[in-house]
Amino acid sequence: MADVRSPTLPGDPQSAEAPPSPTHVTTRREDYRAPDWLVPEIALDFSLDLERTRVRAILSVERNGDHDRPLKLDGDGLALLKVKLDGADAAARQDGEQLVIDIAGDRATVETEVEISPAANTQLMGLYASGGMLCTQCEAEGFRRITFFPDRPDVLSRYRVRMEGDAARFPVLLSNGNRVATGEAADGRHWAEWEDPFPKPCYLFALVAGDLQANSDRFTTASGREVELNIYVRAADLPKTAHAMHSLKQAMAWDEQVYGREYDLDLFNIVAVSDFNMGAMENKGLNVFNTAYVLADQDTATDGDFDNIARVVAHEYFHNWSGNRVTCRDWFQLSLKEGFTVFRDQGFSADIGSAAVKRIEDVRVLRAAQFPEDSGPLAHAVRPDSYLEISNFYTATVYNKGAELIRMFHTLLGPEKFRAGTDLYFDRHDGEAATCDDFVAALEDASGVDLSRFKIWYSQAGTPHVRAHISHDADAKAALLHLSQHLAPTPGQAVKQVMPIPLRTALIDRHSGEQIGDERLIVLDEAEQAFRFDGVGSAPMLSINRGFSAPILLDVARGPGELERLAQADGDPFARYEAIQELMMRALVAGAQANAVDADTVVEAIAATLADDRIDAAFKAEAILAPSEALIADRLDVVVPDAVHRARDALRAAVGARLSDAMLAAHRQEGGAGNDLSPEAKGIRRLRSVALGYFAAGDATAGAALAKAQFDGADNMTDRQGALGLLVSLDGPERVQALDAFYLRFREDPLVLDKWFGLQAMAQRAETVDEVLKLAEHPDFTISNPNRLRALAGSFAANHWAFHSPDGRGYAFLADMILAADKLNPQTAARLVPPLGRWRRFEPHRSKLMRAQLERVAGTSGLSKDVYEQASKSLV
Ligand code: ARG
Ligand code: ZN
Repeated sequence: MADVRSPTLPGDPQSAEAPPSPTHVTTRREDYRAPDWLVPEIALDFSLDLERTRVRAILSVERNGDHDRPLKLDGDGLALLKVKLDGADAAARQDGEQLVIDIAGDRATVETEVEISPAANTQLMGLYASGGMLCTQCEAEGFRRITFFPDRPDVLSRYRVRMEGDAARFPVLLSNGNRVATGEAADGRHWAEWEDPFPKPCYLFALVAGDLQANSDRFTTASGREVELNIYVRAADLPKTAHAMHSLKQAMAWDEQVYGREYDLDLFNIVAVSDFNMGAMENKGLNVFNTAYVLADQDTATDGDFDNIARVVAHEYFHNWSGNRVTCRDWFQLSLKEGFTVFRDQGFSADIGSAAVKRIEDVRVLRAAQFPEDSGPLAHAVRPDSYLEISNFYTATVYNKGAELIRMFHTLLGPEKFRAGTDLYFDRHDGEAATCDDFVAALEDASGVDLSRFKIWYSQAGTPHVRAHISHDADAKAALLHLSQHLAPTPGQAVKQVMPIPLRTALIDRHSGEQIGDERLIVLDEAEQAFRFDGVGSAPMLSINRGFSAPILLDVARGPGELERLAQADGDPFARYEAIQELMMRALVAGAQANAVDADTVVEAIAATLADDRIDAAFKAEAILAPSEALIADRLDVVVPDAVHRARDALRAAVGARLSDAMLAAHRQEGGAGNDLSPEAKGIRRLRSVALGYFAAGDATAGAALAKAQFDGADNMTDRQGALGLLVSLDGPERVQALDAFYLRFREDPLVLDKWFGLQAMAQRAETVDEVLKLAEHPDFTISNPNRLRALAGSFAANHWAFHSPDGRGYAFLADMILAADKLNPQTAARLVPPLGRWRRFEPHRSKLMRAQLERVAGTSGLSKDVYEQASKSLV
């Protein structure tokens, strides 16, 4: 059994906080205090202009509690033109970026006027320009870049918004809620007024002004409310909005059926924007999306893109309840809305597609993105204790591990009690800003189940490591399952407590392959514990953590041939997938250490999987796909990237060569039409490309010819990108031919051009670093568009072998990108830091080079607090 690496830190874990800095202030969860002043109403008036927008805000404020502290309004980069208190000139002072106003009574009206420049806003936070339109992003702390306001999620207000702008440039004027009035103004200008009846925190405010066209539709809710739906895009993109609209209606129906949640306004708008820091934003009634999660058609989007659109459209829509109707008290509670909403969108995607495959994909994301976070210098709890910059905490831990936590609650309570719990939660906290504790309390009160011990999953960082073995007593016909758990220290948490770990478990007969008795839900809640199974005649095989019931690392002592057997026999699809993957992982880890791979058992398991007609193509594709190099590296104490790369290549080559007929047959399997988005058709396309990948690994020349044929003949982007993704790593003439053809055909389509950059940055070739450096000089590369930057630098940093090029040029390139991007867009720059932060895991030469680049970044003056926090914590 390959060793599961436990995360190690040298010496005592350091503090989880960034090293003290004169300019950047740490915010701590324990310092939470209710707001001194509430703002029940706000009226905003925008005079829109790309260069100079004026914002007038009228706040009705109310003293909250018995105190005599002044009103403090947050601001960031605002040019203050005037302040009035109850209509008279106010004695306001500016304290740093805050505006401080003394108020004698308990109520007042505060009016401010500021000027901002959307065109100069390269951070893409607040009001900014994108392709000639104006739009906003306020979560987490962007509203303070629009107007002076208590920018915190526990201040809820009713919004009335008026905006006026040039009618030709901005024919469409949108904000949250309902449009209540429109009209013409002088000089070719026009205006619109919007009102949102639901009180909301300012991070949910949105405004959009631009030359947009809508794909319009309707949805009738369960109680008969007619909702107008619009997806606003540039006119040329209208034909690419059908899938997003379809997904939206599916999501609205699903939330009614599964959670009993209806939409609550007469209008639901989505706007797609090309320049966007994240995926999308759930602003009340006016979701703003990265175009990448809206636009799709057969020719330009892969099956994966279509799935992501459905997932993100659903995610943002679901936030209307888990996020908007019930919001977060403070940003430490971010997972209250994000973890829960990810869990909800995972359920949606499982229900509209293949549940088994969806679970595999979700676990793959967790292992690829969250486990490394949990074992590295940026490890933090699902509910963190402190931050310098909250944008750095929109992480896989808060989102994906947060979703696993909710899934554990769901597993423990069962679907009915869980639903009773969420009903109570929504009911009890509707219109409020709540905490993670409130959520758990609602689950407990509705179910009668005590979850107090489970709450440690919110506060304790790190991935628990569980060891398991079975002993059998033939006389007693009983099996004993021995479990132990261990959790290594993480920054700021030197001493760890035992965690309750829910494990769906079954025993399987070694000979018949049949399950023995029912599956059991075991909760390991001691450091070491044994569980007894009766009626077990002979020594059984163990199927544990089925469905990945707990987000842990697992190490099971297994007899010879057991994994091979489970890979065919386990009745739980996820466990079966795990068995095949673990077989591969064993061969790969041994291969990386010994520089030679024993492929025999893997070849047999893959052959049997391909030949099994009880399972579908999508599952086969997932199961036989070799673990990524990064995942293999996570199992090693000291990573030598070339050894990992060679081992994986060797295994793939052996499988491809020895199973070339089976791979060819799988590749030639007939699927549905190119526009068929059924799970079956998608599964076949996926298997065809995965099989082709293996075939090409066994025979590069024949593989390249086949891939080129698939590329040339493709009538859909899945097949085209699948083929190109292979060709970029092969050295034949087909590589450049295909890349050039792809570029010529799609150069005008930014999202497809992102693929062109990304695929080259992911190429498994010795020359990839050189190519990436060249691509950074390409006329179509721009550092100011987050999608393009991620396509090149983000993809490259995820290309394990190429990024870890022994000459260190990959590290230097990433550091250059971080520093250049930081001047424009700190949030997006900071997201590129974590790959360098893995330096401790690598062999000494690379480790030193990585650290040197991190030091260069951290030592640069004028760094944003976003990048400062990530880089300085990564060095500790
Ligand atoms: N709440 C958004 C979501 O649905 C993410 C917005 C994050 N924005 C940011 N600037 N960090 O996940
Ligand atoms: Zn979200």
